Amino acid sequence: MSLEQDKDRFADAVAEAFRQSYPEQFETVGETGAFSAGEVRAKLEKPKDARMGRFALPVFPYLKLLRAKPDDVASRVAAAANSLLEEDGDSGLSISADGGYLNAKIDQVAQMRATLAEILRKQAAFGNSNDGAGKTILVEYSAPNIAKPFGVGHLRSTIIGNSLRLIFKKLGYHSVGLNYPGDWGTQFGKMIVAFRKWGSEESLQGNAVRNLLDLYVRFHKEAERDAALEDEARLAFKNLEDGEPEATKLWERFKTISYAEFDRIYTLLGVEFDVVYGESFLNDKMNAVIDRLKRDGLVTVSDGALIVDLKDPQLPPSLLRRSDGATLYQTRDLAGMVYRWERWHFHECLYVVGSSQADHFKQALKVIEMMETAEQLPEAQRMAQRLRHIGFGWVKFGGKAMKTREGTLIFLEEVIDEAVKLVREKIEEKNPDLKAIDETALMIGVGAVVFSQLSVRRHKDVNFDWDEVLSFEGETGPYLQYTHARLCSLLRNYGREVGAGVDFSLLDHEEEHRVVELLADFPDAIRDAAANYDSYYLATYLLRLAGAFNKVYQRKDSQGRIDKIISENRALTEARMALVISVVTVLREGLRLLGLKAPEEM
Ligand code: ARG
Repeated sequence: MSLEQDKDRFADAVAEAFRQSYPEQFETVGETGAFSAGEVRAKLEKPKDARMGRFALPVFPYLKLLRAKPDDVASRVAAAANSLLEEDGDSGLSISADGGYLNAKIDQVAQMRATLAEILRKQAAFGNSNDGAGKTILVEYSAPNIAKPFGVGHLRSTIIGNSLRLIFKKLGYHSVGLNYPGDWGTQFGKMIVAFRKWGSEESLQGNAVRNLLDLYVRFHKEAERDAALEDEARLAFKNLEDGEPEATKLWERFKTISYAEFDRIYTLLGVEFDVVYGESFLNDKMNAVIDRLKRDGLVTVSDGALIVDLKDPQLPPSLLRRSDGATLYQTRDLAGMVYRWERWHFHECLYVVGSSQADHFKQALKVIEMMETAEQLPEAQRMAQRLRHIGFGWVKFGGKAMKTREGTLIFLEEVIDEAVKLVREKIEEKNPDLKAIDETALMIGVGAVVFSQLSVRRHKDVNFDWDEVLSFEGETGPYLQYTHARLCSLLRNYGREVGAGVDFSLLDHEEEHRVVELLADFPDAIRDAAANYDSYYLATYLLRLAGAFNKVYQRKDSQGRIDKIISENRALTEARMALVISVVTVLREGLRLLGLKAPEEM
């Protein structure tokens, strides 16, 4: 239990104790908030004499409201608060009344026992909560585009979103992972034209996705010289929209090729989705939303196009239908929002999409808000406040962002293959006898790439640097995995069960206390990640935990020798092994929530 958590629990118990101890006075003043947990917390002081307690609450500010004497207040409230704390189980926190103060005493051994016993008992379920009971959260992530390669931006979305989905699930939400591939839009007109002009059956074999990208890049180059190509592409897309069989057949083939590629990547990353539908799924749902917006009086015609004027100087109008009748990416998202709301009645719907699309989402959200306001819907039927764009920065290689159009994109699979190859070389050097070397290299190579995307706040750019990402010592995935594997090897060496009678008071070094304190913080780290929609909070927490444990591992005794975890002292060794098991449990579960595997040997 950290000091902050103790203060929170103290404040909660004392606030409730005030209410129970002074029911009449509470009737009149209680609701002013003077006795709320927040107020109590704000009034906490540090006792002059540390032996009195870790922190204390003076009762003097409350005397007038309660019309009572300091000693009476202190002793009544302390008694009530202590029984509330006891009801919560042995927590090591107790309150004593002295001279008008409520002093908080912390029994560190009891706290360690409480934390470690809870982890040993709950194992991977430690940190689970029911914060989200009865609430559905949709997390959309990945959303790559058909006939284009899966880019690093999609990689980052996939990794952030997959982790958020797991985190919300851990917190008890009905968490739905959604993939929304881009399988519709004018680019398919371009692809069809390019394929007919320069493609062949062969280009759909072998490395088909790369061939399709080459065609796409070539289209843009040639279109700079020959403007007629753009018209041809528009016509081709029109044909596709009209369901012309040949265009449709080509589009289907592009889709099959791309989906196979995406699925390979998801398998490699260990990423899953609960629902997958592409943009084209919304084709027959757009008229309904356009009609609805018309009925709400929000649609105007501008140069033959249908738009919604957002009445906001910062935002251009939302374009629903072009003058040639074509619908847009925006139109599909609007239809999709209505669809998702009707299907899931979500508590929240997250769009994990690069920050470069911030305006697109601002526009769509504004349209929904205007629509719901125009319709005077009651709060419970409104979704506008429940839709969130979860943006993130660029992924840069050597300081440069990658874009598909220029064809300079680094293929995701190449990144992963390279990571696996480099890790394999490292392992061969460090641990050439490792049995499952290929599987392990894969777990670590993938882990390195995944962690690199989560170890900076999502709004910031990631500067991808091979040496940094793959280091076993830096703030990396492999470092966490390596720490985990090292602890597993300790457990193997120990080779015995840790029984029920562990004496936690034997863990009496500063370094060990710090580890237990951090272990107790795990549930908060998960909540922080969820509250900020950013697994970064969990990622950095795990780095702190691993760092703290490595201090235990390297601790030297008074003679300057490493104080080995496994020693002749059986009782001490057992207590330390309980600590090791707890760290392994939290590391492994934490890594899982980030989307990383935790090999037991490496
Ligand atoms: N496929 C799009 C792209 O690659 C991202 C889709 C994001 N999701 C959404 N609902 N608009 O740019």
